Amino acid sequence: AGSGKFFVGGNWKCNGTKDSIKQLVSDLNSATLEPDVDVVVGPPFVYIDQVKNSLTDRIEIAAQNSWIGKGGAFTGEISAEQLKDIGCKWVILGHSERRHVIGEDDQFIGKKAAYALGQDLGVIACIGELLEEREAGKTWDNIVIAYEPVWAIGTGKVASPEQAQEVHVAVRDWLAKNVSAEVASKTRIIYGGSVNAGNSADLAKKEDIDGFLVGGASLKGSDFATIINSVT
Ligand code: G3P
Repeated sequence: AGSGKFFVGGNWKCNGTKDSIKQLVSDLNSATLEPDVDVVVGPPFVYIDQVKNSLTDRIEIAAQNSWIGKGGAFTGEISAEQLKDIGCKWVILGHSERRHVIGEDDQFIGKKAAYALGQDLGVIACIGELLEEREAGKTWDNIVIAYEPVWAIGTGKVASPEQAQEVHVAVRDWLAKNVSAEVASKTRIIYGGSVNAGNSADLAKKEDIDGFLVGGASLKGSDFATIINSVT
């Protein structure tokens, strides 16, 4: 971890029921968490309200997607304004499952990111092997970049700390060249892909790994807490 505040997000993906989420929230509410870490969880849309009403304010809420613009006649979509209305502070955009399973492309994701930032939502912008987000707007203050190598997502095959560090440095260099040195140094670049309670501490030691986006292991409160607390 570098000098910025460590950031750990839990992406619950399309998992959970009212009951399992009640349990997860209660586990998170009773966990002891390092104070100096930003913690965010991303429940499925339909459970955001339940989580918002029961989870400690210590943990902020992210949606897993948002529409490219203002709401209206867009069946099945959820707008950034609606997310704000129910208390979301963040939105995860461009996750590889949305790119590769649903077919979203850079341009579409860029529009979503720009719109969400314009609505004052923080954006957790996910990238794959390379930095692809060129259209995410100029409001870099509210952006956390998540590097998730596709081969590491849900596979149990975590990137080594050295592999992740190497890409995070490349992303930071890209930001320095294409945006500014200041943005490069203050943007948090987090790693996602088979992060668990056993491997997070070693990853967190790397200078350019500023946090994690956790899938499977975020569904277990005690494991997620261990990951949050792995920055020392
Ligand atoms: O967004 C987090 C994610 O894609 C990583 O998933 O299950 O490998 O931690 P997982």
